[in-house]
Amino acid sequence: MESHKKQECAAEIDQSRRKLLVGGGVLAAGAALAHFGGMVNSAHALGCATEKWPWPYVKLDPAATAEIAYNEWYRVFCGAAVINSVFGQLREKVGAPYDTFPADAFVFLEGGQVGWGTICGSPAGANIVANCIIGPRIAGDAAGHHIAEEIMQWYSEASMPVFTPKSPRISDELIKTTADSPLCHVSVGKWMKAANKPIGSAERKDRCARVAASTAYRLVELLNDWKDGKYKPKATHAAVRDFGITAQMNCMECHSGNVPTPPMAAKK
Ligand code: HEC
Repeated sequence: MESHKKQECAAEIDQSRRKLLVGGGVLAAGAALAHFGGMVNSAHALGCATEKWPWPYVKLDPAATAEIAYNEWYRVFCGAAVINSVFGQLREKVGAPYDTFPADAFVFLEGGQVGWGTICGSPAGANIVANCIIGPRIAGDAAGHHIAEEIMQWYSEASMPVFTPKSPRISDELIKTTADSPLCHVSVGKWMKAANKPIGSAERKDRCARVAASTAYRLVELLNDWKDGKYKPKATHAAVRDFGITAQMNCMECHSGNVPTPPMAAKK
């Protein structure tokens, strides 16, 4: 990954150099070289070598963050709500780089990405936040990666929604379900069946707003631990290692008793 990225950067710089040399030939080589210094910088500004982690983080209040996520859901839906609940506060408390982060762009995470029912936007948003703040595992600190693994497992196993906002839009108690999956389709589907409420109902919407709030709450607890130097990876599910294929944990739920074995690498 890292060397791939370096190659991309090098290609970008090479292209800039080529454009300069094609136009000016040898005559302008000196000027081109001088110019080239500037090009290197502008290539870096595109995000090649300037990516630095961790981003500044100050500890946040999990309950206050969850309240923000709950309300934001009604504006930008699950994924962007979770992102904004953290980055919105850090924009106020810290400033850069949060003040230029386009959190609203992540509205597309709604409905498991534009309604396709794949990963629920709440864990997707949380994992974007953790990996932006701490950085990707290829950058050294793998805590963001481990927090993402933990969020996936926690989300799958939690009786959702966990968090109840101070002034919920729906005053009746909402039924709780365990998804056993990070998939929007499965998570929402099991809840809709248990609650007997359609996708467009106010109850289903409030349930998803509370799921976003619950996830933001958990995320901030984990980030605060990391900030205190207390974070220890706890996720136990690692499908690639344990099963030889990317997957969630409950193989039987989809393969109903007949779980296929993936082709395994030849033993050396
Ligand atoms: C969310 C549903 C779901 C879950 C959970 C799931 N799978 Fe699958 N899996 C599928 C579907 C759908 C396919 C593609 C159709 C097929 O081949 O059965 C597939 C394909 C596969 C394949 C490749 C195709 C084949 O038949 O060999 C393997 C291997 C596999 N799954 C193993 C697993 C293992 C192991 C687990 C648990 C760690 C798991 N799956 C969990 C839905 C699921």
